[in-house]
Amino acid sequence: SHSQSDQFCDAGVGYSESTCGISSSKLLIKGGTVVNAHHQQIADVYVEDGIIVAVQPNIKVPDDVTLLDATGKYVMPGGIDPHTHLAMEFMGTETIDDYFSGQAAALAGGTTMHIDFVIPVNGSLVAGFEAYEKKAKKSCMDYGFHMAITKWDESVSREMEIMVKEKGINSFKFFMAYKGSLMINDELLLQGFERCKSLGALAMVHAENGDAVFEGQKRMIELGITGPEGHALSRPAVLEGEATARAIRLAKFVNTPLYVVHVMSIDAMEEIAKARKSGQKVIGEPVVSGLVLNDSGLWDPEFITAAKYVMSPPIREAGHDKALQAALSTGVLQLVGTDHCVFNSTQKAFGIDDFRKIPNGVNGIEERMHLVWDTMVESGQISVTDYVRITSTECARIFNIYPRKGAILAGSDADIIIFNPNSSFEISASSHHSRTDTNIYEGRKGKGKVEVTIVGGRVVWKDDELKVVPGCGKYIEMPPLSYLFNGIDKADAKYRSSLKAPVKRFKSTS
Ligand code: URP
Ligand code: ZN
Ligand code: ZN
Ligand code: ZN
Repeated sequence: SHSQSDQFCDAGVGYSESTCGISSSKLLIKGGTVVNAHHQQIADVYVEDGIIVAVQPNIKVPDDVTLLDATGKYVMPGGIDPHTHLAMEFMGTETIDDYFSGQAAALAGGTTMHIDFVIPVNGSLVAGFEAYEKKAKKSCMDYGFHMAITKWDESVSREMEIMVKEKGINSFKFFMAYKGSLMINDELLLQGFERCKSLGALAMVHAENGDAVFEGQKRMIELGITGPEGHALSRPAVLEGEATARAIRLAKFVNTPLYVVHVMSIDAMEEIAKARKSGQKVIGEPVVSGLVLNDSGLWDPEFITAAKYVMSPPIREAGHDKALQAALSTGVLQLVGTDHCVFNSTQKAFGIDDFRKIPNGVNGIEERMHLVWDTMVESGQISVTDYVRITSTECARIFNIYPRKGAILAGSDADIIIFNPNSSFEISASSHHSRTDTNIYEGRKGKGKVEVTIVGGRVVWKDDELKVVPGCGKYIEMPPLSYLFNGIDKADAKYRSSLKAPVKRFKSTS
């Protein structure tokens, strides 16, 4: 039933007759444990017209209000996925989950907002933004945009200002890999960092040494290693560590905060740890695949099974997963994304003779909340409040939309999940809501279940049924100068005064 031609995925997806926002606009969630990043308490949550109105014990309401009993369960902010690629053109094809199917999958898994990467069109940021505005028209949940920077000139620099001041974008991703397509060199990276700083926008990096990856790929092909395992062997962790260290040092030189996306290795994580220890503002985002999987799948005898694990940076050898979990539990890494970037088996088969042609990307938008719970909370590594922080609140803070998002507080958007810690989940391509025909977590079971998802005050997921409305999702503008920029100007002033040298120390006498 999950073919690329599905207009909307049919796996249990229904359509609510209500229009966005108006009907069932009053909700009372009774008796649950309300969890925020800073605090948890047993309380009721009252919602009107998509906004949380009150959070306190024993709220009394009239009869016409819809009641949801959350006794014995957690009431938490819906997940925010900081890293997705819906309907992205990439490696000669397009990701098979679009803004409807990808978001439907997200909602079934308790994620109520995502931030996707706009890819410029022919280098134009404005054209890229307009293309993504169109793609996002069928949204059924709120979303924001990062912007990828794939080349550099005066017009890109000018358009960055338009994005920040007029379009609600406060973050830009620079690719240090994908030589020949998205990669940029150090000169451009530096100029890009400077521009981000001047706009109060957050610089993000895909940190792998793209030149070395290119050489590593040639090496594998020369050795006759053309299968999916060649993908991992061609771009080892040392190249991720190198690029992460380089990006961190350049961000230090510029004195601007840095966000490292998809941290997949101990090598990269330790560079982030070292920088943070020295006081540098560096954020590290592990993704679910890197936290819970290892590279063994890439050696599967079936091409399609092995190819589904191909993403960049690659999923690493056993050991990196546990180290990333530990780093997340101690605050060395701060939030969890997915890099949801899905291609079906037909698309993955483009690389049957050459791993370099396998479209890079894995699923995760539907599985993130469950897998992070099972891996981090059930294992005893983090608290329930920490879970809310790393799946929702910290993302909202970094991208400057807190407390509208990422909190169960009066005045916040009513994007809420009811989570039953005593139930269980099981993952399979036969029951997931993504349009793809495989799942990298096939057969995985664990404790805990998102039983209800509420987005914008509407119940969209309950009793394993999705009722989503295309067009109900809103674009969330993200203002510049998040908390990460606090103190940057003071540090700059201190740096200038530390130089001691007068501006013109020697003068020619002629
Ligand atoms: O393999 C990946 N990660 N595909 C998506 C593009 C990116 O680098 O994030
Ligand atoms: Zn389907
Ligand atoms: Zn990337
Ligand atoms: Zn990505």
